[in-house]
Amino acid sequence: MASFPFEIAAVDGQARTGTLKTSRGDIRTPAFMPVGTAATVKALYPDQVRQAGADILLGNTYHLMLRPGAERVKRLGGLHHFMRWNGPILTDSGGFQVWSLAGLRKMSEEGVAFKSHIDGSKHMLTPERSIEIQADLLGADISMQLDECTPFPCERDAAAKSMELSIRWGRRSRQAFGERATQNLFGIVQGSVYPDLRQQSAEALMETGFDGYAVGGLAVGEGFEMMCSVLDVTMPHLPQDRPRYLMGVGRPIDLVEAVARGIDMFDCVMPTRSGRHGQAWSDYGPFNLKNAQYAEDESPLNEAVDCPASRDYSKAYLHHLVRAGEYLGSMILSWHNVAYYEDLMARMRAAISEGRFEAFRAEFLSRWEEGTG
Ligand code: GUN
Repeated sequence: MASFPFEIAAVDGQARTGTLKTSRGDIRTPAFMPVGTAATVKALYPDQVRQAGADILLGNTYHLMLRPGAERVKRLGGLHHFMRWNGPILTDSGGFQVWSLAGLRKMSEEGVAFKSHIDGSKHMLTPERSIEIQADLLGADISMQLDECTPFPCERDAAAKSMELSIRWGRRSRQAFGERATQNLFGIVQGSVYPDLRQQSAEALMETGFDGYAVGGLAVGEGFEMMCSVLDVTMPHLPQDRPRYLMGVGRPIDLVEAVARGIDMFDCVMPTRSGRHGQAWSDYGPFNLKNAQYAEDESPLNEAVDCPASRDYSKAYLHHLVRAGEYLGSMILSWHNVAYYEDLMARMRAAISEGRFEAFRAEFLSRWEEGTG
């Protein structure tokens, strides 16, 4: 398989910085991928997402197959053309949303049969169909294998069975994907909180052979300490020379701690979702613009972030917009949050390049504790 070149420019402890080179442009790592579930990063124009510093977006098989339909997206020129984003796109395989969003569902070796959360229509998602949707119809630059996101908590036996199913689905995904010149396929490590299951999962996926490796089944209620310890036991079993992606994570502190453990890519709805709920992110944690303390605060959200949303509007104005339920409040806060997340990734990349990531991490942690403690 022709993997995208992944050039690691600097390593500092376990943290690394580099470039994943795709036919649609370079992805600077560690990278944060804003989530564009329904062919839109909610409340943002593609140009704003790009200017905020994002090199790659995430799209969702589950949502797009139900609406507007993957075949329709294909007829309309593919996902990049449809949504006017010409950079790389990674798509998630759908297994996660089938579990979190669908109505009735039935698992079998073959795949997942489920009822749409939109209109109750029935669908079947198999590893082969997921690859067809992602790679052939949507045209994703990076496709994910179909997996089962093991719920938490989960007994060991059930976690082992679920992880083994994901391994078999990984092989079928790989087989269906075949050899492609300009597209890549990532495997997903499962195994819940059990170190030996995580190791088995990672080893089996490497035997199958993927272009990159994701860690799934985290941020499902296990908590911060447990997430860090699962990364501690999983990362040593993943290849050094391929990108590693932590799925669905997280808060700024989670990103810093995962980068410290060798993660290269992230996605999360947090910056956009919390923006629509009146929240702004900072090194000191989240703050809610609805609070009375901002009613006459003329300072901007964060002067240090090179984005109009962060620099040019007062907290007092945002307080007013959020209180009045104005769309622009959601738009400015989502924009700021994506820019803040991308700026945090840029600061981490610079710290790793300059060999001062541990100092950066310690200072970040002390700010975070000062703000949230
Ligand atoms: N998003 C967050 N966690 C997961 C996971 O375990 N699997 C998939 N496919 N997507 C995710």
